[in-house]
Amino acid sequence: MYSETVMDHFKNPRNVGEIENPDGVGEVGNPVCGDIMKIFLKIENNIVVDAKFKTFGCGAAIASSSMATELVRGKTLEEAWQLSNKAVAEALNGLPPIKMHCSVLAEEGIHKAINDYRVKHGLEPWQETSSH
Ligand code: FES
Ligand code: FES
Repeated sequence: MYSETVMDHFKNPRNVGEIENPDGVGEVGNPVCGDIMKIFLKIENNIVVDAKFKTFGCGAAIASSSMATELVRGKTLEEAWQLSNKAVAEALNGLPPIKMHCSVLAEEGIHKAINDYRVKHGLEPWQETSSH
């Protein structure tokens, strides 16, 4: 049912934990299942220099958070914002259709963390445009 990449990121998730004094934090809940994901970002000169997560959720949500935090590292905020849940799922070599909603948590968590940073710096929050 799951790709080897999903299983790898589920069993050995990257970037688990919290960042001390994060520049942006995003907490999101999945309305479908009630699972929760929290994303922490360290941002310097508009670049995501560190990303960590805490996820109370299914294997697909943990693998998605692990992959998403890997993918946004080193990216500009604009690039990190563009990371869609589909791109996360593709990087995991696919998720079963009924598990696609789990990857949405990662996209939304990163969006919330970026906007948390923007609002703290007196900037307008960016608007959600994707429809998954
Ligand atoms: Fe809840 Fe996957 S079933 S996030
Ligand atoms: Fe957020 Fe699709 S789950 S709009």
